[in-house]
Amino acid sequence: MSSERFYITTPIYYPSNKLHIGHTYTTVAADALARYHRLRGHDTWFLTGTDEHGQKIERAARAAGKEPLEFIDEIVAWIKELWQVLHITYDDFIRTTEPRHERRVQAMFQQLYDQGDIYKAEYEGLYCTQCEAFYTETQLKDGNRCPDHDVPVEKLREESYFFRLSRYADRLLKHIEATPDFIQPASRRNEVISFIQQGLEDLCVSRTSFRWGIPVPFDPKHVIYVWIDALANYATAVGYPDGELYRRFWPADVHLIGKDILRFHAIIWPIILMALGQPLPRQVYGHGWVLLEGGKMSKAKGNVIDPFTLIDKYGVDAVRYFLLREVPFGADGVYSEHALINRTNVDLANDLGNLLSRTTAMIERFAAGRVPERSPEADDAELAGLAGEVVHEVEDHLSRSELSSALTSIWKLVGRANKYIDETAPWNLARSQADRDRLAAVLYNLAETLRLVAVLLTPFMVLAPEKIYAQLGLAAEDPRAGWAVGARWGVLRSGVRVDRGEPLFPRIEDEAGDAAVAPGTGTPVAQPQPELLSIEEFKRLDLRVAEITSAERIAGADKLLTLSLRVGDESRQIVSGIAKHYSPEELVGKRIILVANLKPARIRGVDSAGMLLAASDGDQLALVIPEREIRSGARVK
Ligand code: MSP
Repeated sequence: MSSERFYITTPIYYPSNKLHIGHTYTTVAADALARYHRLRGHDTWFLTGTDEHGQKIERAARAAGKEPLEFIDEIVAWIKELWQVLHITYDDFIRTTEPRHERRVQAMFQQLYDQGDIYKAEYEGLYCTQCEAFYTETQLKDGNRCPDHDVPVEKLREESYFFRLSRYADRLLKHIEATPDFIQPASRRNEVISFIQQGLEDLCVSRTSFRWGIPVPFDPKHVIYVWIDALANYATAVGYPDGELYRRFWPADVHLIGKDILRFHAIIWPIILMALGQPLPRQVYGHGWVLLEGGKMSKAKGNVIDPFTLIDKYGVDAVRYFLLREVPFGADGVYSEHALINRTNVDLANDLGNLLSRTTAMIERFAAGRVPERSPEADDAELAGLAGEVVHEVEDHLSRSELSSALTSIWKLVGRANKYIDETAPWNLARSQADRDRLAAVLYNLAETLRLVAVLLTPFMVLAPEKIYAQLGLAAEDPRAGWAVGARWGVLRSGVRVDRGEPLFPRIEDEAGDAAVAPGTGTPVAQPQPELLSIEEFKRLDLRVAEITSAERIAGADKLLTLSLRVGDESRQIVSGIAKHYSPEELVGKRIILVANLKPARIRGVDSAGMLLAASDGDQLALVIPEREIRSGARVK
C-alpha cells in the first residue's frame, strides 16, 4: 500500500431495497480506513455509490408502479441520508446511470470487442435475476433454486456477447500467487485460487431479455451485463482512462467488499483490467457477514435491522463501534441488540466513559481543575510504554484492515489506565503533602492516556473523540489531536482547564435483561438471574482433550504462554494467560481441556486458535484435566 495516497472503495449498492445494518457494515468499515489514512496525512479518496441497472431494479420499479429512475432516485436519496447519519466521509458517490459512467463503460466494452476479447455466440443457461448471474445445474439448490437467494432460476436463451476470461486465467493465477496481499484475508485468497484452478469459462456479458442497462455501443439491442457495468465504476468514477483523478489514484488500494461478491472482484474485474492493459487494484478485501442469531438477514425473512432506528436509539458512535468491534474483521459475526447494549455499557459507558469522568473529576478535585505539569521523570514507564506499543499495534492492524483487532488494542490501554487509577489511588495521594508531585504525575498520565485514546479512536468514532478533547481543554483542530504530533506520549498541554461534561456514553437499560458490570473492570459480574442455556446451545461448544507438547513464555507479557497442543491428529497453538500459575516446564505432557471451536485471535502478535479451561478463585488458578487416562482429541460433553 502506498504510504502517500490511499484510494478505497465500497461496493456500489443496489437501490432496489432500503439497506439494512449488514449493508452499512462495509461502508462503516471503509469509512474508518479512509478516516485513518486522512488522519495520517495521506492523499485519500473514498468512493461509494449505487448500482442502478439490471433486471432486478427494473422489476422492483415496475412492482412499485414507477419508472426505474423515479423509483431509484427516492432510494438513492434515502441511502445518502443514511450515510450522512452515519457520518460517512465519502469523496464521491457514483451512480451507474450517470453519463460519466455510461460512456466510459461503453468505451471499455468497445475496446475489448475491437481487440477480440469479446465475441458473439448463442447461450442458454439458468439465470438468477437477484444475483444477475448464470448457474450450472449442479450449483443449484434442489436442481432449480438459486443457492444464495433460494428463489427459482429462469431458463434464458439468448444470442450474447462473451468475454474471454479463459484467455487470462493463467496470468491472473500467477499474479495472485506472486502477490499475497492481493486477495485478503488468506482464506478468501485460497478460495479464489482453487476456483480458478478448476478452469474458467468465458463469461456472458450482454443481455437482450430486458432494456434497463447500458447499450452495447455497436449492437444496441443488447445491454451490457450489469456486473461488468457495476465493476467498472471503480475506474470510471475517477475518470478512466486518462482523467486527473485516475492518474492520481489508480490503481485503487483496497476494494472492500462482502465475501458474497468475491469472485466478481477477485476474478472478473482483474481480468477486465488486464485485458484493458490497466494496473490491477492492490487489494480486494472480502469481509464476513453480519448475521442474526437465526442466520442471514433478508427482506424475504422480514428480519432486517433498520439502521436509522438503531442509530436513533443508541447513537452513531455506539453503532459504529459495535459493528467494527464485535465482528472480527474478515470473519462472520452475529448481531443482536443485547450484544450491542452490552458492548455500549461495558466498553463505552464503563471502561471509556468512566475513565474520562473519573479523571476529570479527580483533576477538578485534586488539581484545581487544571491539567498538571508533565514531569518526565515521574512518567510511569509501563503506562507510557504500553501507549507506544498500542500506537504501533493500531498502525500495524490498520495497514492490514484489521479493524476489530485495532480496537481491541486500544481497549488494552483503556483497561490499563482504569487499573492504574486503582493502583495509584490518587485520593490517598491527595492526603499527604509529600505525595503532591506523584499525584500531579498520575493525573497528567491519565489525562494524557485519554487524549491519546481519542486520537486512536478518531477513525472509528465520529463524536466521542471531540467530546474527549473538549473535556481535556483541547481544540479538535489542535495538532495534538492529529496523528503526526498526537499519536505519541507526553504532548498534552498542562495548565489548561478541564471541562467535566456529560457522561460520554450514558448506560443503557436493556429491556431484555442487562448484564451487570463491575465498575472499572469492564467484566460482567454475576447476574441476579443468569440466562439458562439449552442443551443445543451447550452442544455448540467443541470441547476436546488436548496434550501440551511445548510451552513458551511470550516476551514482554508476563501472564502469557504460547502452548503447542496435539488434539488427536491435529496440531494447534494457543495463547493462555496462565504464566503466573504454571511454569512452561511443568506444563509439557499435561492433558487439558480445549475449547476447540473458538474464533482464532491474535494475542500480543501470536496466533491463538482456542482456549484451555481452568478454574480460578481469587489468586488461585487450576487447570481442568481429565481424571483418568484418555486419548487426546476425545470429545468432552
Ligand atoms: N451491487 C452489488 C455490488 C456491486 S460492486 C461492483 C451488490 N450490492 S448489495 O447492495 O447487494 O450489497 C452491497 C454490499 O453489502 C456487499 O458487499 C454485500 O456483501 C454487503 N452485505 C449485504 N448484507 C450483508 C450482511 N448481512 N453483512 C455484511 N455485509 C453484507 O452486491
